[in-house]
Amino acid sequence: MARNGGWTGRTMIGRRRVLGAALGVGGVAALGVGGAGWGSGATVVVGQTAPPPAPPPAPINPPVSPSLFLPEPPTRFARDGVLETKLEARPEPALGQGRLSYEGSEGGLPGPTLRLRPGDTLRVSLINNLGGDVTNLHVHGMHVSPKGNSDNIFLHVASGQTLDYSYAIPADHPPGLYWYHPHSHGDSSQQVSGGLAGAIIVEGALDDLPEIANLTDRLLVLQGPFLGPNHELQFLVNGQINPEIPIRPGETQRWRILNASANAFFNLQLVRHPFHEIGTDGNPRPEVETKDILLLAPAERSEVLIQGDAPGIYELRSLAWAEDIPSQSQPQFVVATMVSGGEPVQAMALPTTLIDREDLSTATVDVERTIVFQENSAAPVFAIDGKAFAMDRVDQTVNLGALEEWTLRNTSPEWHPFHIHVNDFQVMSRNGRPEPRTYEDTSRIPPNGELVIRTRFTDFDGKFVYHCHILGHEDAGMMGVVEVVDPNA
Ligand code: C2O
Ligand code: CU
Repeated sequence: MARNGGWTGRTMIGRRRVLGAALGVGGVAALGVGGAGWGSGATVVVGQTAPPPAPPPAPINPPVSPSLFLPEPPTRFARDGVLETKLEARPEPALGQGRLSYEGSEGGLPGPTLRLRPGDTLRVSLINNLGGDVTNLHVHGMHVSPKGNSDNIFLHVASGQTLDYSYAIPADHPPGLYWYHPHSHGDSSQQVSGGLAGAIIVEGALDDLPEIANLTDRLLVLQGPFLGPNHELQFLVNGQINPEIPIRPGETQRWRILNASANAFFNLQLVRHPFHEIGTDGNPRPEVETKDILLLAPAERSEVLIQGDAPGIYELRSLAWAEDIPSQSQPQFVVATMVSGGEPVQAMALPTTLIDREDLSTATVDVERTIVFQENSAAPVFAIDGKAFAMDRVDQTVNLGALEEWTLRNTSPEWHPFHIHVNDFQVMSRNGRPEPRTYEDTSRIPPNGELVIRTRFTDFDGKFVYHCHILGHEDAGMMGVVEVVDPNA
Protein backbone atom coordinates (compact mmCIF):
# COMPACT_ATOMS: atom_id res chain seq x y z
CA MET A 1 0.00 0.00 0.00
CA ALA A 2 1.96 2.96 -1.21
CA ARG A 3 0.82 6.32 -0.03
CA ASN A 4 0.57 9.62 -1.78
CA GLY A 5 1.84 8.71 -5.17
CA GLY A 6 5.01 7.21 -3.88
CA TRP A 7 6.07 10.81 -3.44
CA THR A 8 7.27 10.22 0.05
CA GLY A 9 7.88 6.55 -0.54
CA ARG A 10 6.64 5.76 2.92
CA THR A 11 3.89 3.67 4.30
CA MET A 12 1.88 4.42 7.38
CA ILE A 13 3.50 1.49 9.14
CA GLY A 14 6.85 1.41 7.44
CA ARG A 15 7.67 5.07 7.64
CA ARG A 16 10.01 5.09 10.59
CA ARG A 17 11.75 2.01 9.30
CA VAL A 18 12.19 3.71 5.96
CA LEU A 19 13.89 6.62 7.63
CA GLY A 20 16.00 4.33 9.70
CA ALA A 21 17.00 2.29 6.71
CA ALA A 22 17.82 5.34 4.66
CA LEU A 23 19.91 6.77 7.45
CA GLY A 24 21.53 3.40 7.97
CA VAL A 25 22.85 3.28 4.45
CA GLY A 26 23.97 6.82 5.02
CA GLY A 27 22.93 8.11 1.65
CA VAL A 28 21.92 11.69 1.26
CA ALA A 29 20.57 10.68 -2.11
CA ALA A 30 18.54 7.82 -0.68
CA LEU A 31 16.87 9.98 1.93
CA GLY A 32 16.67 13.02 -0.28
CA VAL A 33 14.77 11.05 -2.84
CA GLY A 34 12.57 9.44 -0.24
CA GLY A 35 11.88 12.75 1.42
CA ALA A 36 11.32 15.09 -1.42
CA GLY A 37 12.32 13.85 -4.86
CA TRP A 38 9.92 14.49 -7.66
CA GLY A 39 7.96 11.33 -8.22
CA SER A 40 10.93 9.15 -7.49
CA GLY A 41 10.12 8.32 -3.90
CA ALA A 42 9.01 4.86 -4.90
CA THR A 43 12.67 3.87 -5.04
CA VAL A 44 12.94 4.04 -1.25
CA VAL A 45 10.24 1.80 0.06
CA VAL A 46 11.02 -0.55 2.87
CA GLY A 47 8.76 -2.42 5.22
CA GLN A 48 5.73 -2.90 3.04
CA THR A 49 4.34 -6.10 1.69
CA ALA A 50 2.78 -5.00 -1.59
CA PRO A 51 5.23 -4.16 -4.36
CA PRO A 52 5.80 -0.46 -4.84
CA PRO A 53 3.88 1.18 -7.66
CA ALA A 54 5.55 1.52 -11.02
CA PRO A 55 7.38 4.83 -11.40
CA PRO A 56 5.01 7.43 -12.76
CA PRO A 57 4.98 7.72 -16.53
CA ALA A 58 6.44 10.80 -18.16
CA PRO A 59 5.17 13.26 -19.21
CA ILE A 60 3.14 13.30 -16.06
CA ASN A 61 0.39 15.59 -17.08
CA PRO A 62 -1.11 15.10 -20.52
CA PRO A 63 -3.37 18.03 -21.38
CA VAL A 64 -6.71 17.54 -19.65
CA SER A 65 -9.71 19.64 -20.35
CA PRO A 66 -10.89 21.49 -17.28
CA SER A 67 -13.28 19.35 -15.29
CA LEU A 68 -15.52 21.80 -13.54
CA PHE A 69 -15.59 25.26 -12.09
CA LEU A 70 -13.20 25.95 -9.28
CA PRO A 71 -14.99 24.90 -6.08
CA GLU A 72 -14.50 26.80 -2.83
CA PRO A 73 -13.66 24.79 0.26
CA PRO A 74 -16.40 25.08 2.91
CA THR A 75 -15.84 28.23 4.94
CA ARG A 76 -16.28 28.74 8.67
CA PHE A 77 -16.73 32.29 9.89
CA ALA A 78 -16.18 33.88 13.26
CA ARG A 79 -19.31 34.99 15.06
CA ASP A 80 -19.19 37.64 17.79
CA GLY A 81 -15.41 37.48 17.80
CA VAL A 82 -15.13 33.70 18.12
CA LEU A 83 -14.61 31.01 15.52
CA GLU A 84 -15.23 27.65 17.10
CA THR A 85 -14.87 24.53 15.01
CA LYS A 86 -14.03 20.86 14.99
CA LEU A 87 -11.37 19.40 12.73
CA GLU A 88 -11.47 15.66 12.51
CA ALA A 89 -8.34 14.20 10.91
CA ARG A 90 -9.26 10.93 9.25
CA PRO A 91 -8.47 8.71 6.28
CA GLU A 92 -10.66 9.28 3.21
CA PRO A 93 -10.03 6.24 1.04
CA ALA A 94 -12.97 7.24 -1.16
CA LEU A 95 -10.93 10.22 -2.34
CA GLY A 96 -8.00 8.03 -3.37
CA GLN A 97 -5.25 5.91 -1.95
CA GLY A 98 -3.60 7.41 1.11
CA ARG A 99 -5.82 10.48 1.27
CA LEU A 100 -6.49 12.10 4.60
CA SER A 101 -8.93 14.88 5.31
CA TYR A 102 -10.22 17.17 8.03
CA GLU A 103 -13.70 17.17 6.67
CA GLY A 104 -15.26 13.91 7.73
CA SER A 105 -18.79 13.63 6.45
CA GLU A 106 -18.54 16.87 4.49
CA GLY A 107 -15.88 15.08 2.45
CA GLY A 108 -13.22 16.48 0.23
CA LEU A 109 -9.92 18.23 0.24
CA PRO A 110 -8.66 20.62 1.47
CA GLY A 111 -9.96 21.26 5.00
CA PRO A 112 -12.46 24.05 5.63
CA THR A 113 -11.36 27.65 5.32
CA LEU A 114 -11.35 29.52 8.61
CA ARG A 115 -12.18 33.19 8.13
CA LEU A 116 -11.74 35.65 10.93
CA ARG A 117 -10.54 39.11 11.89
CA PRO A 118 -7.80 40.55 14.08
CA GLY A 119 -8.90 40.46 17.71
CA ASP A 120 -10.93 37.26 17.25
CA THR A 121 -10.42 34.01 19.11
CA LEU A 122 -10.03 30.78 17.16
CA ARG A 123 -11.00 27.58 18.95
CA VAL A 124 -10.35 24.26 17.30
CA SER A 125 -11.15 20.81 18.64
CA LEU A 126 -8.72 18.57 16.85
CA ILE A 127 -9.97 14.99 16.73
CA ASN A 128 -7.41 12.38 15.79
CA ASN A 129 -9.22 9.63 13.92
CA LEU A 130 -6.27 8.76 11.69
CA GLY A 131 -6.31 5.26 13.07
CA GLY A 132 -2.78 4.99 14.46
CA ASP A 133 -0.43 7.92 14.07
CA VAL A 134 -0.20 10.88 16.39
CA THR A 135 -1.01 14.28 14.96
CA ASN A 136 -1.31 17.90 16.07
CA LEU A 137 -2.05 21.33 14.64
CA HIS A 138 0.04 24.29 13.57
CA VAL A 139 -1.42 27.61 12.41
CA HIS A 140 1.25 28.48 9.88
CA GLY A 141 2.30 32.13 9.79
CA MET A 142 -0.03 33.31 12.53
CA HIS A 143 1.38 35.76 15.05
CA VAL A 144 -0.01 34.05 18.15
CA SER A 145 1.41 32.62 21.35
CA PRO A 146 3.44 29.39 21.00
CA LYS A 147 2.54 28.38 24.57
CA GLY A 148 -0.19 26.37 26.27
CA ASN A 149 -2.96 25.24 23.93
CA SER A 150 -2.09 27.90 21.38
CA ASP A 151 0.38 27.38 18.50
CA ASN A 152 2.38 24.85 20.47
CA ILE A 153 3.74 22.13 18.22
CA PHE A 154 5.24 20.34 21.22
CA LEU A 155 1.72 19.10 22.02
CA HIS A 156 0.58 15.89 20.38
CA VAL A 157 -2.79 14.20 20.00
CA ALA A 158 -2.74 10.42 20.23
CA SER A 159 -4.95 8.25 18.09
CA GLY A 160 -8.56 8.41 19.24
CA GLN A 161 -7.96 11.53 21.32
CA THR A 162 -9.21 15.11 21.03
CA LEU A 163 -7.34 18.30 21.93
CA ASP A 164 -8.87 21.76 22.23
CA TYR A 165 -6.68 24.50 20.84
CA SER A 166 -7.38 28.18 21.47
CA TYR A 167 -5.66 31.03 19.66
CA ALA A 168 -6.04 34.69 20.63
CA ILE A 169 -5.45 36.70 17.48
CA PRO A 170 -3.90 40.09 18.25
CA ALA A 171 -5.88 43.19 17.31
CA ASP A 172 -3.03 44.34 15.05
CA HIS A 173 -2.58 41.01 13.26
CA PRO A 174 -1.65 41.47 9.56
CA PRO A 175 -4.47 40.60 7.15
CA GLY A 176 -3.93 37.89 4.57
CA LEU A 177 -3.70 34.19 3.79
CA TYR A 178 -2.47 31.71 6.38
CA TRP A 179 -2.99 27.99 6.75
CA TYR A 180 -3.13 25.10 9.17
CA HIS A 181 -1.56 21.66 8.98
CA PRO A 182 -0.21 18.87 11.20
CA HIS A 183 3.25 19.35 12.69
CA SER A 184 4.13 16.10 14.37
CA HIS A 185 7.84 15.54 13.80
CA GLY A 186 8.35 12.41 11.71
CA ASP A 187 4.74 12.40 10.50
CA SER A 188 4.41 15.84 8.94
CA SER A 189 5.31 14.97 5.37
CA GLN A 190 3.06 11.96 5.19
CA GLN A 191 0.08 13.71 6.79
CA VAL A 192 0.34 16.88 4.72
CA SER A 193 0.97 14.86 1.53
CA GLY A 194 -2.15 12.89 2.39
CA GLY A 195 -4.14 16.12 2.23
CA LEU A 196 -4.30 17.46 5.78
CA ALA A 197 -4.24 21.22 5.23
CA GLY A 198 -6.64 24.12 5.11
CA ALA A 199 -6.61 27.88 4.67
CA ILE A 200 -6.98 30.60 7.29
CA ILE A 201 -7.99 34.02 6.02
CA VAL A 202 -7.48 36.99 8.29
CA GLU A 203 -9.55 39.88 7.00
CA GLY A 204 -8.41 43.45 7.53
CA ALA A 205 -7.11 46.68 6.06
CA LEU A 206 -6.00 45.17 2.76
CA ASP A 207 -9.55 44.00 2.07
CA ASP A 208 -10.87 47.49 2.71
CA LEU A 209 -8.75 49.27 0.06
CA PRO A 210 -11.20 50.66 -2.50
CA GLU A 211 -9.45 48.99 -5.47
CA ILE A 212 -9.63 45.62 -3.72
CA ALA A 213 -12.78 45.66 -1.61
CA ASN A 214 -15.29 44.58 -4.24
CA LEU A 215 -13.28 42.16 -6.32
CA THR A 216 -14.18 38.51 -6.83
CA ASP A 217 -12.10 36.88 -4.12
CA ARG A 218 -10.84 33.41 -5.00
CA LEU A 219 -8.89 30.97 -2.89
CA LEU A 220 -6.62 28.43 -4.60
CA VAL A 221 -5.30 25.75 -2.29
CA LEU A 222 -2.66 23.83 -4.28
CA GLN A 223 -1.99 20.26 -3.20
CA GLY A 224 -0.15 17.27 -4.58
CA PRO A 225 1.25 15.27 -6.07
CA PHE A 226 -1.24 12.53 -5.26
CA LEU A 227 -1.30 9.16 -6.94
CA GLY A 228 -4.20 8.77 -9.36
CA PRO A 229 -5.97 5.51 -10.22
CA ASN A 230 -3.51 4.79 -13.04
CA HIS A 231 -0.47 5.70 -10.98
CA GLU A 232 -0.45 9.13 -12.59
CA LEU A 233 0.51 12.11 -10.48
CA GLN A 234 -2.32 14.48 -9.71
CA PHE A 235 -2.23 18.09 -8.56
CA LEU A 236 -5.33 19.54 -7.02
CA VAL A 237 -6.73 23.03 -6.70
CA ASN A 238 -9.33 23.05 -3.94
CA GLY A 239 -9.54 19.30 -4.37
CA GLN A 240 -10.08 19.35 -8.17
CA ILE A 241 -7.79 18.39 -11.01
CA ASN A 242 -7.38 21.27 -13.44
CA PRO A 243 -10.58 23.18 -12.56
CA GLU A 244 -11.91 25.96 -14.73
CA ILE A 245 -11.65 29.52 -13.43
CA PRO A 246 -14.05 31.91 -15.14
CA ILE A 247 -13.23 35.59 -15.65
CA ARG A 248 -14.71 38.33 -17.83
CA PRO A 249 -12.58 40.22 -20.30
CA GLY A 250 -11.30 43.27 -18.42
CA GLU A 251 -12.44 42.00 -15.03
CA THR A 252 -10.02 42.18 -12.10
CA GLN A 253 -10.04 39.26 -9.66
CA ARG A 254 -8.14 38.67 -6.46
CA TRP A 255 -6.59 35.24 -6.08
CA ARG A 256 -5.19 34.00 -2.80
CA ILE A 257 -2.82 31.15 -3.64
CA LEU A 258 -1.48 28.68 -1.08
CA ASN A 259 1.11 26.01 -1.78
CA ALA A 260 -0.13 23.37 0.66
CA SER A 261 2.06 20.63 -0.79
CA ALA A 262 4.41 18.88 1.60
CA ASN A 263 7.32 18.78 -0.81
CA ALA A 264 6.50 20.22 -4.25
CA PHE A 265 7.16 23.68 -5.66
CA PHE A 266 4.67 25.53 -7.84
CA ASN A 267 6.43 27.66 -10.43
CA LEU A 268 3.31 29.40 -11.69
CA GLN A 269 2.67 31.08 -14.98
CA LEU A 270 -0.74 32.17 -16.29
CA VAL A 271 -0.60 32.38 -20.05
CA ARG A 272 -0.70 36.04 -21.23
CA HIS A 273 -1.64 37.28 -17.75
CA PRO A 274 0.88 38.78 -15.35
CA PHE A 275 0.42 38.39 -11.60
CA HIS A 276 0.03 41.70 -9.75
CA GLU A 277 1.17 40.68 -6.30
CA ILE A 278 -0.43 42.45 -3.34
CA GLY A 279 0.57 40.16 -0.49
CA THR A 280 3.17 37.57 0.49
CA ASP A 281 2.66 34.95 3.19
CA GLY A 282 -0.23 36.76 4.83
CA ASN A 283 1.42 40.17 4.70
CA PRO A 284 0.28 43.03 2.48
CA ARG A 285 3.04 44.38 0.27
CA PRO A 286 3.84 48.09 0.55
CA GLU A 287 3.48 48.30 -3.24
CA VAL A 288 2.10 46.09 -5.98
CA GLU A 289 4.76 44.07 -7.77
CA THR A 290 3.98 42.67 -11.21
CA LYS A 291 5.49 39.28 -12.04
CA ASP A 292 5.27 36.92 -14.98
CA ILE A 293 6.27 33.93 -12.89
CA LEU A 294 5.20 33.27 -9.34
CA LEU A 295 7.37 30.72 -7.60
CA LEU A 296 5.85 29.23 -4.46
CA ALA A 297 7.92 26.85 -2.36
CA PRO A 298 6.03 24.51 -0.04
CA ALA A 299 4.03 26.63 2.47
CA GLU A 300 4.48 29.92 0.63
CA ARG A 301 1.44 32.04 -0.22
CA SER A 302 0.84 34.87 -2.58
CA GLU A 303 -2.12 37.15 -3.14
CA VAL A 304 -2.39 38.52 -6.63
CA LEU A 305 -4.68 40.56 -8.84
CA ILE A 306 -5.45 39.13 -12.28
CA GLN A 307 -6.98 41.16 -15.08
CA GLY A 308 -8.89 39.16 -17.69
CA ASP A 309 -7.54 39.44 -21.24
CA ALA A 310 -9.52 38.96 -24.47
CA PRO A 311 -11.96 36.02 -24.55
CA GLY A 312 -10.02 32.77 -24.63
CA ILE A 313 -8.61 29.85 -22.70
CA TYR A 314 -5.48 30.43 -20.64
CA GLU A 315 -3.62 27.72 -18.77
CA LEU A 316 -2.31 28.24 -15.27
CA ARG A 317 0.83 26.11 -15.35
CA SER A 318 3.62 25.14 -13.10
CA LEU A 319 6.70 25.51 -15.28
CA ALA A 320 9.57 23.05 -15.13
CA TRP A 321 11.58 23.72 -12.00
CA ALA A 322 15.07 22.85 -10.69
CA GLU A 323 15.94 20.90 -13.81
CA ASP A 324 19.60 20.69 -12.81
CA ILE A 325 18.85 19.22 -9.35
CA PRO A 326 17.86 15.57 -9.85
CA SER A 327 16.25 15.17 -6.43
CA GLN A 328 14.10 18.29 -6.81
CA SER A 329 13.49 18.70 -10.52
CA GLN A 330 9.87 18.91 -11.60
CA PRO A 331 8.46 18.84 -15.12
CA GLN A 332 5.86 21.32 -16.31
CA PHE A 333 2.25 20.51 -15.49
CA VAL A 334 -1.17 22.14 -15.74
CA VAL A 335 -2.67 23.50 -12.52
CA ALA A 336 -5.94 25.08 -13.70
CA THR A 337 -7.51 26.68 -16.75
CA MET A 338 -8.76 30.24 -16.79
CA VAL A 339 -11.52 30.93 -19.27
CA SER A 340 -12.16 34.54 -20.21
CA GLY A 341 -15.62 35.09 -21.61
CA GLY A 342 -18.98 36.74 -21.17
CA GLU A 343 -19.77 40.43 -21.08
CA PRO A 344 -16.54 42.49 -21.14
CA VAL A 345 -16.06 45.00 -18.35
CA GLN A 346 -14.08 48.22 -18.28
CA ALA A 347 -10.64 47.37 -16.86
CA MET A 348 -10.05 49.34 -13.69
CA ALA A 349 -6.77 50.93 -12.73
CA LEU A 350 -4.73 48.68 -10.47
CA PRO A 351 -3.70 49.98 -7.08
CA THR A 352 -0.05 50.96 -6.68
CA THR A 353 0.59 51.61 -2.99
CA LEU A 354 -0.93 49.22 -0.50
CA ILE A 355 -0.08 48.94 3.18
CA ASP A 356 3.20 50.01 4.65
CA ARG A 357 5.01 48.43 7.54
CA GLU A 358 8.21 49.13 9.43
CA ASP A 359 11.28 48.79 7.18
CA LEU A 360 13.73 46.71 9.19
CA SER A 361 16.61 47.46 6.83
CA THR A 362 17.10 50.83 8.52
CA ALA A 363 16.50 49.58 12.07
CA THR A 364 19.22 48.79 14.62
CA VAL A 365 20.07 45.12 14.83
CA ASP A 366 20.50 43.75 18.36
CA VAL A 367 21.92 40.32 17.53
CA GLU A 368 23.29 38.63 14.42
CA ARG A 369 23.36 34.88 13.93
CA THR A 370 24.46 32.53 11.19
CA ILE A 371 22.54 29.26 10.90
CA VAL A 372 23.66 26.55 8.50
CA PHE A 373 21.35 24.09 6.70
CA GLN A 374 23.23 20.93 5.80
CA GLU A 375 22.93 17.55 4.16
CA ASN A 376 25.65 15.31 5.50
CA SER A 377 27.00 12.01 4.25
CA ALA A 378 26.60 10.49 7.73
CA ALA A 379 23.84 10.90 10.30
CA PRO A 380 22.39 13.37 10.91
CA VAL A 381 21.89 13.58 7.18
CA PHE A 382 19.42 16.48 7.31
CA ALA A 383 20.78 18.87 9.90
CA ILE A 384 20.98 22.46 11.04
CA ASP A 385 24.34 23.47 12.50
CA GLY A 386 25.40 19.83 12.60
CA LYS A 387 22.41 18.67 14.64
CA ALA A 388 19.15 16.92 13.93
CA PHE A 389 16.04 18.23 15.65
CA ALA A 390 15.70 17.43 19.34
CA MET A 391 12.54 18.46 21.07
CA ASP A 392 14.24 19.09 24.44
CA ARG A 393 17.19 21.09 23.19
CA VAL A 394 17.07 24.86 22.75
CA ASP A 395 19.19 25.91 19.79
CA GLN A 396 18.72 29.68 19.87
CA THR A 397 17.83 31.83 22.85
CA VAL A 398 16.41 35.22 21.98
CA ASN A 399 15.33 38.18 24.09
CA LEU A 400 11.72 39.24 23.79
CA GLY A 401 11.53 42.35 21.61
CA ALA A 402 15.00 41.91 20.07
CA LEU A 403 15.58 42.71 16.42
CA GLU A 404 17.80 40.00 14.96
CA GLU A 405 19.50 39.45 11.65
CA TRP A 406 19.83 35.80 10.65
CA THR A 407 22.10 34.69 7.87
CA LEU A 408 20.75 31.35 6.69
CA ARG A 409 23.41 29.47 4.83
CA ASN A 410 22.77 26.36 2.76
CA THR A 411 25.77 24.12 2.17
CA SER A 412 23.76 21.51 0.24
CA PRO A 413 22.93 21.26 -3.47
CA GLU A 414 19.15 21.38 -2.81
CA TRP A 415 16.67 24.20 -2.10
CA HIS A 416 15.51 24.57 1.50
CA PRO A 417 12.53 26.84 2.17
CA PHE A 418 13.22 28.38 5.59
CA HIS A 419 10.25 28.87 7.91
CA ILE A 420 10.00 30.17 11.45
CA HIS A 421 6.90 30.17 13.61
CA VAL A 422 5.20 33.11 15.35
CA ASN A 423 7.12 36.10 13.88
CA ASP A 424 7.39 37.11 10.24
CA PHE A 425 10.65 38.33 8.83
CA GLN A 426 11.72 40.87 6.27
CA VAL A 427 13.86 39.37 3.52
CA MET A 428 17.05 41.43 3.20
CA SER A 429 18.93 39.57 0.47
CA ARG A 430 19.25 36.29 -1.35
CA ASN A 431 22.72 35.26 -2.50
CA GLY A 432 23.88 38.77 -1.68
CA ARG A 433 21.30 40.48 -3.87
CA PRO A 434 18.91 42.82 -2.09
CA GLU A 435 15.26 41.77 -2.28
CA PRO A 436 12.20 43.99 -2.66
CA ARG A 437 10.72 44.79 0.72
CA THR A 438 8.35 42.02 1.74
CA TYR A 439 7.42 40.35 4.98
CA GLU A 440 7.32 36.58 4.76
CA ASP A 441 7.26 33.54 7.01
CA THR A 442 8.72 31.09 4.49
CA SER A 443 11.49 31.90 2.03
CA ARG A 444 13.86 29.87 -0.13
CA ILE A 445 17.52 29.40 0.71
CA PRO A 446 19.19 28.70 -2.64
CA PRO A 447 21.40 25.62 -3.12
CA ASN A 448 24.89 26.42 -1.84
CA GLY A 449 23.58 29.90 -1.17
CA GLU A 450 22.42 32.30 1.46
CA LEU A 451 19.31 34.10 2.64
CA VAL A 452 19.53 37.06 5.04
CA ILE A 453 16.45 38.02 7.04
CA ARG A 454 15.60 40.43 9.85
CA THR A 455 12.92 39.72 12.39
CA ARG A 456 11.64 41.26 15.58
CA PHE A 457 10.63 38.80 18.29
CA THR A 458 7.60 40.73 19.49
CA ASP A 459 4.76 40.01 21.87
CA PHE A 460 5.29 36.32 22.63
CA ASP A 461 7.82 34.49 24.75
CA GLY A 462 8.08 30.71 24.72
CA LYS A 463 9.52 27.93 22.64
CA PHE A 464 8.86 27.36 18.96
CA VAL A 465 10.67 26.10 15.88
CA TYR A 466 12.36 27.07 12.64
CA HIS A 467 12.86 24.52 9.90
CA CYS A 468 12.96 23.60 6.25
CA HIS A 469 9.40 23.44 4.92
CA ILE A 470 10.14 20.58 2.58
CA LEU A 471 8.48 18.37 5.13
CA GLY A 472 10.48 15.28 4.17
CA HIS A 473 13.56 17.27 5.21
CA GLU A 474 11.92 18.56 8.37
CA ASP A 475 10.85 15.03 9.40
CA ALA A 476 14.40 13.86 8.81
CA GLY A 477 15.77 16.42 11.27
CA MET A 478 16.14 19.79 9.55
CA MET A 479 14.48 21.74 12.37
CA GLY A 480 15.67 23.69 15.42
CA VAL A 481 14.15 25.18 18.57
CA VAL A 482 14.17 28.86 19.44
CA GLU A 483 13.23 30.08 22.90
CA VAL A 484 12.18 33.67 23.42
CA VAL A 485 12.79 34.79 26.98
CA ASP A 486 11.55 37.95 28.64
CA PRO A 487 14.60 39.61 30.22
CA ASN A 488 12.34 41.57 32.56
CA ALA A 489 10.34 38.61 33.80
CU1 C2O B 1 4.00 25.14 8.08
CU2 C2O B 1 6.60 24.62 11.18
O1 C2O B 1 5.28 24.82 9.63
CU1 CU C 1 15.02 21.25 2.96
